[in-house]
Amino acid sequence: MPINKEDTSLKKDLVLCEDGSYTLYSHQFEEPYHSTKDGALHESLEKHVKPSFTLKSDKPNLTILDICFGLGYNTFATLHYIKKHNLKTKVHILSPEFDETLVRSLDTFNFPTEFESIRHIIKQVSQNFYYEDEQFKIEILIGDARQSIPQIKEKIDIIYQDAFSPAHNPLLWTKEWFADIRAICLDDAILTTYSTAAAIRLGLYENRFYIFVHRAEMMRYSTVASLKMLEGLEYIDMELKKIRNTEARSMRDADYLKDMHS
Ligand SMILES: C[S@@+](CC[C@H](N)C(=O)[O-])C[C@H]1O[C@@H](n2cnc3c(N)ncnc32)[C@H](O)[C@@H]1O
Repeated sequence: MPINKEDTSLKKDLVLCEDGSYTLYSHQFEEPYHSTKDGALHESLEKHVKPSFTLKSDKPNLTILDICFGLGYNTFATLHYIKKHNLKTKVHILSPEFDETLVRSLDTFNFPTEFESIRHIIKQVSQNFYYEDEQFKIEILIGDARQSIPQIKEKIDIIYQDAFSPAHNPLLWTKEWFADIRAICLDDAILTTYSTAAAIRLGLYENRFYIFVHRAEMMRYSTVASLKMLEGLEYIDMELKKIRNTEARSMRDADYLKDMHS
């Protein structure tokens, strides 16, 4: 057997999404980094950036937790959105990611033309895992998110919860994971996620998040969770959901750590 046999699980394939932006397919997690139907850029903007900046439009400074960095679309789409709308908002983005090689490769990734004006930022982030100017500060926390989140000292306004799916990346969707996130949140923090699964909404609800449906054009609906009640969004009564679906349970660390150790 060859000694340096290539580990095919680390292989990633380039995939063109329906919105014309590119994403990757991960053989390790057996899924693409973005919904190829919704599109990498379109999904970032519609599911995460726009609802967050609409709900937090009154805040001059925002601290955002981008879970996890991946190709950086959510972070870069945030900067693109701020520049496009001439916002003065100062943002500090913290983003865990354990795939250091992926981040280093982003300097040459085929990003959409919308990111052309932030090319210098992409370059610095991919080389130094850090960028700072008068308006933006980006820090990539290289390592396991389960370890880096409890060490964060900043208080968070917005969480983009964009891990791989609960089936393939379970430890970033459990009740305990959301408890760690809750512990570093401001009292009015919001969380955006593509997941609409009952188990995920329950994990958030059990950490005192209110749950709402987010609808956008040409996009499957998604979830906005908030520590404060929000007006103008479709509220989901989780107590009623529990009565109607008695089988539904939040995901728990113990179920997956057990699998890892057996
Ligand atoms: C769906 S992708 C994120 C896509 C990203 N938000 C974007 O816009 O390109 C999920 C990312 O989570 C990372 N990841 C999964 N589990 C992790 C963990 N425990 N700690 C740190 N990163 C993790 C993967 O390496 C992958 O880059």
